[in-house]
Formats: sequence, structure tokens, C-alpha cells
Amino acid sequence: MRRRGIFITLDGMDGSGKSTQARLLGEFLRARGYRVVTTREPGGTPLGEAIRRVLLGRRAPRASALAELALMYAARAQHIEEVVRPALERGQAVVSDRYHDASMAYQGYGRGLGAATVRAFDRIVCRDWQPDLTLILDLEPEESLRRVRGRKQRRSRFEAAGLPFLKRVRAGYRAIARREPERVILVRAGRSVAEVQRDIRAHVERFLHNGRRRRAPRRRQPVPSATVTLPMGAF
Ligand code: TMP
Repeated sequence: MRRRGIFITLDGMDGSGKSTQARLLGEFLRARGYRVVTTREPGGTPLGEAIRRVLLGRRAPRASALAELALMYAARAQHIEEVVRPALERGQAVVSDRYHDASMAYQGYGRGLGAATVRAFDRIVCRDWQPDLTLILDLEPEESLRRVRGRKQRRSRFEAAGLPFLKRVRAGYRAIARREPERVILVRAGRSVAEVQRDIRAHVERFLHNGRRRRAPRRRQPVPSATVTLPMGAF
């Protein structure tokens, strides 16, 4: 079935207030008459939440960078299948608190796996399910660390990786924004919730106005089934 909905992702540094902003953006879109699904990664499905507990829970086992990336993409595959794709096909608006840019920033840049490795997973798992608009909440790594250390939760594996890691993550997010200015907008975090939300809404308003026109060329055209001839045994 053809995709009809809109797909917006929020991403960025730990402690940037992204989850609050995602919730407020969902409310904004609902008030504008959209049927909205707000979701998150890793998570959003029973399998995704289980993977989240494995990776980010209290007794998180050791995992290599590649295992970490593969688990994030396993959660994402399920998330697309169970949540993102059905909602977009129903014509709903999906607002996801993190998506594949987090894998690029944290595993590709932060862990040093490199962009090509992350893109290889992306090609297999995300395929056409690419966000229409992504807002990256940008925050100084020092401030990010200070904020997550102030939380009551136990330290996460990423916080434990320290400042140099978070600096690479931030460089990753900024590189993504430079590479894909059509899709990705950097929003300065570290301000009040209301100020950040005002900026986000302005960007989303602009996207809703002219986004559909801009998006069109990025979509793959469906191939009429009559023209597809596959040799026997192609699969
Ligand atoms: P959060 O959703 O509460 O921000 O926490 C998720 C953590 O997982 C955060 O530190 C970023 C990290 N993460 C990755 O490293 N790679 C990913 O692909 C995703 C979705 C999250």
C-alpha cells in the first residue's frame, strides 16, 4: 500500500528535553486535526521495549559496538513493522522520539563504527521508511552530561562512556544535519521548554505548508506489477 501519512522524528543529545518536546509536538499536531501516533526508540513495541531494557536497564550486559547497533536495528525493524508502517499507511502522523539518526550519531560516530556500516543496516531495515522531517535537539556535550548525571536513574552505558564519546555523538548529529539540510533541522536546546517548542512548531508549520511538494522526488515510484518480470528462482 502507498504511504500517505507524515513521519517526523525528534533526535539529539541525552538530556536535551527531546521526550517532552516530542509529546508537546504530538499535542500540537492533534490540535491541528492530525491523527497522531507518538512513539519512541529503542522501544515502541514489546520487542523494542525488551531490547531497551537489555541495553539500557539496570543490569545491562556487556555488548560490543556492533552488537549494540544490531540490537538497535532489531528494535527498529519491529517498530517499523508494528507501528510506523501501519500508521503511515493509515494516513496518520507518526512522531518518533529517536530513529535511525541516533544509530548514526551514537554507534556510527560515538562508537566509531562509521557511517557506511550504519547505512548498510539502514538500507536493509528502514528502506523507504525514512522520516519526512527530523528535528535534532543540539546541546553542548558538557551540559548533556551534567543533565543526565542529575537524573535519578542509574548511569546508562552511554553516560558511562563519558565526555569524549558525547563529543563524537554531537559531531555526528551535526554532520547529519549538514549532509541532509532538506530533512534535518538543528534546534538549539538548553533553553526553556516553551522556547524550544515554539521553534519546533515553527519548523513543523513550515514543513506542513510546503513539505509535501519537497518530499515528492524522494519517494520511489511504485513499479506497475505488470512490467515486473522475475526469472524463475529469483528468490
Ligand atoms: P532515550 O530514548 O531515553 O534518550 O535513551 C535512549 C538511549 O539510547 C540514548 O542514550 C541514545 C541511545 N540510542 C543509541 O545509542 N542508538 C539508537 O539507535 C537509539 C535509538 C538510541
